[in-house]
Amino acid sequence: MFYYLLISLLLISAAVLIFLNNMEAESASVLVLCGKSNAENEFALSLKSNNVLRFLDSNPVSICLHSEIRNLHCDSEGFQVDHYMDVLSTSQFGRFLMYSPRLGSTHDVVSHNFGELPIGAVCVADVQTKGRGRSKNVWESPKGCLLFSFTIQMEDGRVVPLVQYVVSLAVTEAVKDICQKKGIQHLDVKIKWPNDLYLDGLKVGGILCTSTYKSNKFNVSAGIGLNVSNEKPTTCLNATLQKWTPVAHELQREDIMAAFFNKFEDLYTVFMGQGFQSLEPLYYKTWLHSGQRVIVQDKNDNQDQVVENVVTIQGLTSSGYLLAISEDGQTCELHPDGNSLDFFKGLIRRKLA
Ligand SMILES: *[C@@H]1O[C@H](CO)[C@@H](O)[C@H](O)[C@H]1NC(C)=O
Ligand SMILES: *[C@@H]1O[C@H](CO)[C@@H](O)[C@H](O)[C@H]1NC(C)=O
Ligand SMILES: *[C@@H]1O[C@H](CO)[C@@H](O)[C@H](O)[C@H]1NC(C)=O
Repeated sequence: MFYYLLISLLLISAAVLIFLNNMEAESASVLVLCGKSNAENEFALSLKSNNVLRFLDSNPVSICLHSEIRNLHCDSEGFQVDHYMDVLSTSQFGRFLMYSPRLGSTHDVVSHNFGELPIGAVCVADVQTKGRGRSKNVWESPKGCLLFSFTIQMEDGRVVPLVQYVVSLAVTEAVKDICQKKGIQHLDVKIKWPNDLYLDGLKVGGILCTSTYKSNKFNVSAGIGLNVSNEKPTTCLNATLQKWTPVAHELQREDIMAAFFNKFEDLYTVFMGQGFQSLEPLYYKTWLHSGQRVIVQDKNDNQDQVVENVVTIQGLTSSGYLLAISEDGQTCELHPDGNSLDFFKGLIRRKLA
C-alpha cells in the first residue's frame, strides 16, 4: 500500500496545468449519469433521487440523467456519451458512466463515492480543475485530454499492486487496436514503469491507482490521463499519428475509452483467473525496460557510505517491483527511494529470498 503513496502524484504529471482566471472557474459543474442498459439507467435514477454523491469541488455540482438532456443542444466538443456506449461491449466495466464537462477531479468523484457506485463505474471529464491551495490560482487540464477514473474491487492484497500494470496494458492495447483498425500498424506505444505511457519516445499519458481497505476488500480507484489532441507544449496521440500517415487520423476520446474497457475487462479476467504471469509476455513486450541497465545505490558494509552498482532489469517481481540481476548473477528487487519523481533515479536494491 506504501507503493500507492509513491505514485500518487502521477495523474497530475499526466495533465497539463494552466492558469485560469477566477471568473471562469466559478461556474457550477454538471454531472451527467448514464448507463449502457436499463439496469444501469435505473441505478442512475435512484442515485440521483437519493442524492448521496459527495463532491470535494468548491462549486456546486448538479446531477442530471443523460436521458433528460439528450435532446437539448449538445456541445459537439464535449464527450459523446452515446457514441461511447455504442462502442462499449463489456459486461461490467465502464457501463455506468458519470460525465462532466468540467469537474474538480474524476479521481475524487470515484474514490470518495466508492461505496455508492457499482464496481466498474467510470467518471470522465472534458476539463479537470483542481484547486492547488495556493492563493486563488486554479490549475486545469485542457480540452483534448482524456481523463477518467473507475472502480475495481479486489480481495487478494498480494495482487493489488499489480492491477495498475493491467490498467496500463489495457491502455496501450486499446490504442494499438484502434490504430490497427485504421490501418496503422506497428505503433510505438509503450509503458515506462511504473505507470507512464509513451508514444514514439514521448510521454503522452499516465495511470494512477489508489486503494482503501476494509473487511477483506480493497477498493481500487484507477485513473487514466491521456493526451489525445492537446499538442502544446509536448505532444499528443493525434499529433504523432499525423506523422505516420498523410491522411488525418484523429483518435476520438470516446473510442479510446470504450476500447480501453473492452480490453481491460478481458485482461482483468485473465489476471484474476491465471495471475499476472499470464500477462507478462505481453507486458514485457510493451514496457521499455527489458535488459535495461540501471544504477542502484547500495550501502557499503559499514552502512555509512552509499556506493553505486549497475544491475540489469529482468522483469517484475511478484510484488510488482523491478526484478534485476547484478553482474555477479544475484537477483534482487529494486525499489524507488521515494525522493525522486523519476523512479529510475535513486533505486535501492533488496535481496530476494
Ligand atoms: C469499499 O466498497 C464497498 C462497496 O463495494 C463499501 O461498502 C466499503 O465501505 C468500501 N470500503 C472502503 C474502505 O471504502
Ligand atoms: C499533456 O499535454 C500537456 C500540454 O497540453 C503537457 O504539458 C503535458 O506534459 C502532457 N502530459 C503528458 C503526460 O504527455
Ligand atoms: C491533430 O493534430 C494535428 C497536428 O498536430 C492538428 O493539426 C489537428 O488540429 C489536431 N486535431 C485535433 C482535433 O486536435
